[in-house]
Amino acid sequence: MDKIVIRGGRPLSGRLHVSGAKNACLALMPAAILTEEPLTLTNAPGLSDIRTMTALLESLGCEVAALQGGRVLAIGAERITSVRADYEIVRRMRASVLVLGPLLARTGRAEVSLPGGCAIGARPVDLHLMGLERLGAELDLREGYIHARAPRGLRGAVIEFPLVSVGATENVMMAAVLARGTTVLRNAAREPEIVDLAACLNAMGARISGAGSREIVIEGVAGLHGATHRVVADRIELGTYMLAPAIAGGRVELIGGGRALVAAFTDKLEEAGMCVEETAEGLAVSRPDGARPRPLHVVTEPFPGFPTDLQAQMMALLTLADGQSVLEERIFENRFMHAPELARMGARIDIHGGVARVTGVEALRGAPVMATDLRASVSLILAGLAAEGETVVSRVYHLDRGYERVEEKLSGIGAAIERIRG
Ligand code: EPZ
Repeated sequence: MDKIVIRGGRPLSGRLHVSGAKNACLALMPAAILTEEPLTLTNAPGLSDIRTMTALLESLGCEVAALQGGRVLAIGAERITSVRADYEIVRRMRASVLVLGPLLARTGRAEVSLPGGCAIGARPVDLHLMGLERLGAELDLREGYIHARAPRGLRGAVIEFPLVSVGATENVMMAAVLARGTTVLRNAAREPEIVDLAACLNAMGARISGAGSREIVIEGVAGLHGATHRVVADRIELGTYMLAPAIAGGRVELIGGGRALVAAFTDKLEEAGMCVEETAEGLAVSRPDGARPRPLHVVTEPFPGFPTDLQAQMMALLTLADGQSVLEERIFENRFMHAPELARMGARIDIHGGVARVTGVEALRGAPVMATDLRASVSLILAGLAAEGETVVSRVYHLDRGYERVEEKLSGIGAAIERIRG
């Protein structure tokens, strides 16, 4: 297994290009199932999760051509030869469940493995199933699989989500585009990835309004056609790399993403004392020389609140703050696994339930640490950029799921970082 070695203490400078959003692409790819015509996605990120989704779509009979080094994905779903998403694939990547709605809408059938939990939580899909049943699907849970049928097609409905779910909003929205009649999603997720998916579906002939607000209206249509769609910039990658100059010092310009994608996060970064300037191509972040970050109170919430996917990364910064910070993780039940690894580097973190109290220290020390999940692993990389000495991060396959060429991007702005092939 590969390891990543970082020698910390070097201020950063330069420009870093933000890739297309993993979490947008993982919903856009299954949307290709909704039409027999090709869907072409540009600005796609080169990540292992994208390759996993590609394998899943191919197992259903889709043809996926990864062009220009994976930047462009040309997906053809002319023939769906299987409606079964196998446990072997789904257990590796929960987003596989997003083929459920499109398969039901296109073929009237689906057999999708229950995803099971993952490192950060139980990750149920009950809201996905509730929404699809409201659209008229008949669901039967047997041997760990969701057996779904809609022999008479799907029909529009008013669906009120009891809590905000990105995946459930995406799955049900995709199923509703081919339903008979109108569907209204209430308490819908408002993430930029939802807006991006709706824009792509509308380019394919769907009639969706309200994406990005709490209420999304979908007028069912008889069929969709092909389209070409550019994947929105990855706001989590953007926020992650904004923290690099914040924690290590220096000034870095992030190209390709604007403040609107990370407004709540950027407000907190400025509250910690960092400078964020909007530039013609993106955002420039710098840390005032010699200044330690100011402590913060962070609460993770659905968009437009502070993203749970940036909680671990912000904690890395706050381990060096001049005072005590509080981070409340309100989305997932077990998303502090980076804390014991940061503690190996000298951080002082107390966890009680969903609340982490971080007492800032003057400096972190490099150490061997282990990645446990995608965002936890990149928080260790960030800590390594600031730590004295050498940090060795193992199990970096977690990292490769969501961060394209992380060592290239960071060494491109002056970090002393390299991958050791294992
Ligand atoms: C998406 O996961 C993202 N993944 C996650 O990013 C992200 O953390 C999450 O949204 C929240 O923003 C993708 O888009 C592929 P949810 P998702 O449904 O859709 C509960 C990363 O690091 N819930 O919004 O699975 C759930 O347990 C990943 O890139 C139910 O109870 O998240 C959680 O507590 C990690 N029943 C809360 O809702 C359901 O049916 C939010 O989950 C569905 C969810």
